[in-house]
This record gives sequence, structure tokens and C-alpha cells, in this order.
Amino acid sequence: MLNRFQFSRLRPRRRQSTPAQESQAKAPARVVCIASGKGGTGKSVMASNLAVARTRMGEKVLLVDFDAGLANAHLLLGLAPDYDLGHVMEGRVSARDALVEGPLGLRLLSGGVGRDALINPTRRELDRLFKALRPMEEEFDLIIIDHGAGMGYSTVAHLAATSTLILVTNHEVTALSDGYALYKRAMMVNKTLRVGLVVNRAPDERLAQAARERFCAASQRFLGLQPEFIGWVPADPAVGHSVQSRVPAIMHAPESPAAKAISAIAKWTPLDHARTTSAFYERARKALR
Ligand SMILES: Nc1ncnc2c1ncn2[C@@H]1O[C@H](COP(=O)(O)OP(=O)(O)OP(=O)(O)O)[C@@H](O)[C@H]1O
Ligand SMILES: [Mg+2]
Repeated sequence: MLNRFQFSRLRPRRRQSTPAQESQAKAPARVVCIASGKGGTGKSVMASNLAVARTRMGEKVLLVDFDAGLANAHLLLGLAPDYDLGHVMEGRVSARDALVEGPLGLRLLSGGVGRDALINPTRRELDRLFKALRPMEEEFDLIIIDHGAGMGYSTVAHLAATSTLILVTNHEVTALSDGYALYKRAMMVNKTLRVGLVVNRAPDERLAQAARERFCAASQRFLGLQPEFIGWVPADPAVGHSVQSRVPAIMHAPESPAAKAISAIAKWTPLDHARTTSAFYERARKALR
């Protein structure tokens, strides 16, 4: 049996680092949330393709499928994870051990399918999960979080904590109306949030621009602010084919109009700066209180 003195000698000593070494230490991950008001607007397609695009740009990317309980990012990436957020929440595995490797080496933390605990987690369970995810911020350059539709409190906690949101809508009035509601809620809980608007699955540019104008005019009129329009993605059969083949469109059909549009969205400058002053998951935990 080791006495206290011997035990403390076995523990690694924390070395004093010089200011130069500290500036070289890896900065915590940037975090971007992908959300929508209405379901089925194309968040998971967007999130999985953005994850591939940013990995291709040389970043270490983690995609977290927070459509917890109804996850499908693993399908879009052709993966079959052994573990998911539910296992992490229950403390059965660490977040690191729950990761699965995807295309080009990106990592996915799956959301689990049909797990009740994940569909309706208590605040305490979510708090435990956020705490368990915190170490991921030290390991990745960029964390992309794919949310379920709407404004569940887990989504709202993320929106309160993140610096950057990509709001995915379609051009139809129902999607725009629900998207506006989400935007309003997001700006209520996080006044400094940077929001990029994407009109996905648009039949043509005219309808995409009309949708943008409608969204931005309503936001400006009622909230006195508006999101930044970062692009539109055409309705493109290549996306459906890529979903069927379980390979993201920007790999499956890189020359398709949708893939090109998503590649351009991946270069949105705020993604290079999407960092909060304090740890993202600490902020998310605070937002739960
Ligand atoms: N630009 C596009 N062109 C054609 N089809 C698309 C496009 N974007 C998405 N889709 C189709 O829409 C379907 C739904 O997309 P996706 O799963 O990404 O939506 P979602 O917003 O994540 O849905 P949910 O709210 O259920 O999470 C996909 O299976 C895909 O085939
Ligand atoms: Mg989805």
C-alpha cells in the first residue's frame, strides 16, 4: 500500500509553461449549431456535408448528432456506431470512447435511435452529458452540432452557449415561419449570437432569394435585426442519391449543384472564429440552471 507521499510522487507533475508554450497550446474547439424550426429542412444533410467539407479543409472535426433519440447522421455517413450520446449520458462510456471514425477521418458522436432517455432527458441528465462532453473541446478544432427540429430545452441550452448558429430553412412559408420563431428565441437567449441563414432545397434562385427577403424583412421589422444570408442550396436529386448510398453529397457527387453550394457555405468566415470566451459546454450547463 502506498502512503500519501509515495502516491503523490506517482502522479504526473504539472509543469510550469512559459508564455510562448501557452500560446502554442491548442485553443478550445469552435462550436457551430445547426438548427431549424420545422423538421426535415435538411439540417442533417447540411451538418454531415459541412463536417466533411471542413475536414477536407484540414480541420479536426467532431459531428455531434444531437437529434437525440432520432439520430440519423450515422446513416448519412455510412456508419454503424456501437455507442451513442445515451451511453455517454448514462456514464457507460466516455465521450472519447463513444466516437466513431467517419469519412476522411472526421469523428461522429451519434445520437442514438429510439432511446427514451435521450428523447426526454431531465436537466440533471443533460448536465451530466454536457459535463462528459466538455473534454471534446480540447481534442477538436471544430464541433458541429446537428439538432432536432424545434426549440426543445436541450436545443435552447446549446443556442444560449454557442457563438454561431446555422439556421436551415426551406422556401415554403411554413418553414420560414417556424425558422423565424427559432431565430427569435435564439436571439432572446443569446444576444451576441451570430446567425447564418441557409435556404435549402429551393426550386430555383428566385424562390430562394424571395424566401431570404421575406425572412430578413420580418426579422428586421419585429426584432430590429436579421440573420446573415450565407447561401441557398438547390433541390437536387444528387442529395437523394447520396442519402441512398450513405455517402455525403460533396463526396458522392462533388460537381452537383447542391454539393457546390454546400462547399461554398463551408467557407462562411464566422466558422473560423466560432469560439466563446469560456468553455462551450460550461456555458451550456449554466444555461440549464
Ligand atoms: N438540397 C436538397 N435537395 C434534395 N433533397 C434534399 C436536399 N436537402 C435535403 N434533402 C432531402 O431531405 C431529406 C431530409 O433531410 P434531413 O434529414 O437533412 O433533414 P433534417 O432537417 O435533418 O430533418 P429532421 O428535422 O427530421 O432532423 C433527406 O433525406 C434528403 O433526401
Ligand atoms: Mg436531422
